[in-house]
This record gives sequence, C-alpha cells and structure tokens, in this order.
Amino acid sequence: MRLWFNPASPFARKVRIVARETGLAGRIEEINTVVSPIKPNAELARENPLVKIPALATPELGTLYDSAVICEYLDGLHRGTPLFPGGGPERWRALRLQALGDGILEASVLMRYESAVRPESLQWSEWTAGQLAKVRGGLGALEQECPGWGERFAIGQITAACVLGYLDFRFPQEAWRVARPALARWYERIARRPSMKATVPA
Ligand code: BEZ
Repeated sequence: MRLWFNPASPFARKVRIVARETGLAGRIEEINTVVSPIKPNAELARENPLVKIPALATPELGTLYDSAVICEYLDGLHRGTPLFPGGGPERWRALRLQALGDGILEASVLMRYESAVRPESLQWSEWTAGQLAKVRGGLGALEQECPGWGERFAIGQITAACVLGYLDFRFPQEAWRVARPALARWYERIARRPSMKATVPA
C-alpha cells in the first residue's frame, strides 16, 4: 500500500498512528507530499480528485480517502483489538469522538491556512474568531470526556491526540493545557506511545 502524507498534516498523522498501532506500518510505503489548497499537485490529483492528503492506494479498491475511511479500512486488516468498535453504543461513542476531533482539526487547519496562506490584506478576523470558538468549544468537550477514557487508545482517542499535537505544533500561543488539566494529564501519558513519538509533526 502507498500512503500520500505530509508530516505537518494532523489528518495524515491519524492514519500513520493507526498504521503503527495495528502493526501495519511495514506494509505501507509513505510518500511525503507537499500540498496546499492553492498549488496544483498532478500526482495527488490522479489519486484523489480532491487533491488532499491522506490518500491510501490499496491493492483491491484503488485509492481511499479521507482519514476516517482509511483508518477504518486499515482497522479491518489486523487481528488485534479493533480501533473502531464493532457495534452498539460503543461504536457510536467512538465515531462521535472521532467527529469531534476531526471538527476541531478542520477549524484549526482553516485558521492555519488563513494566517499562513491567505494574503494579509484578505484575512478576516471575525471568521478566524469563529473557527477559534469551535476549537475551544471542542477542547472543552474533550476535557469533560477524557476522564472516562481509561487506557483506551481507539479511533476517538487517536484523533484527540492528533488535535493536541497539532495545537502544540501550530498554535502554541493557545496554551490549551492551562484551563484543561485532565486533558493535559491524559496527553502527557499518551504522547509517550511509540506511535505518537514516531509521528510528531515537523
Ligand atoms: C500544516 O502545515 O499545518 C498542514 C499541512 C498539511 C495539511 C494540513 C495542515
């Protein structure tokens, strides 16, 4: 399998963590890819019409995207504890947590593009403030929820870990730990996992 990724992308990080947590990393060739919403990338466009990473070329299904689809696909290829619970309330809780984390990431990446890609004269502070409110609201929900996670590191927790790693990487000034002590304690422990250490954004 071939994975198009960028080491800065938190969505690609999700997939790379899942690959390592499931023991599948050795079956995946990682292709470091430069992407930007304003730069064409003909190779990636052939794999994903949305020209986005992550994208995973599979032996039997062509190329899969987005990160949630790829992670669930990979979860079907190993025999260990499933990262996506098979059914019932546990599955819906895991998918909701994944959606919460993905939503925080989408708002964070939009803020990053606004400041790093959009010309300064076109930047819109009210719009950025709206995205930041989503990030902070989402972090508040994670702070409430994380004491119940125990030792679990399934798809929802993996997504939450990618959120916190991305905020440290791109928005250190947000100092997310200050008002969220339970989340900070959880992240300190989880950041020691080999899958997390091997995928620190750069
Ligand atoms: C970033 O540089 O923050 C970034 C790169 C790729 C995808 C998303 C974010």
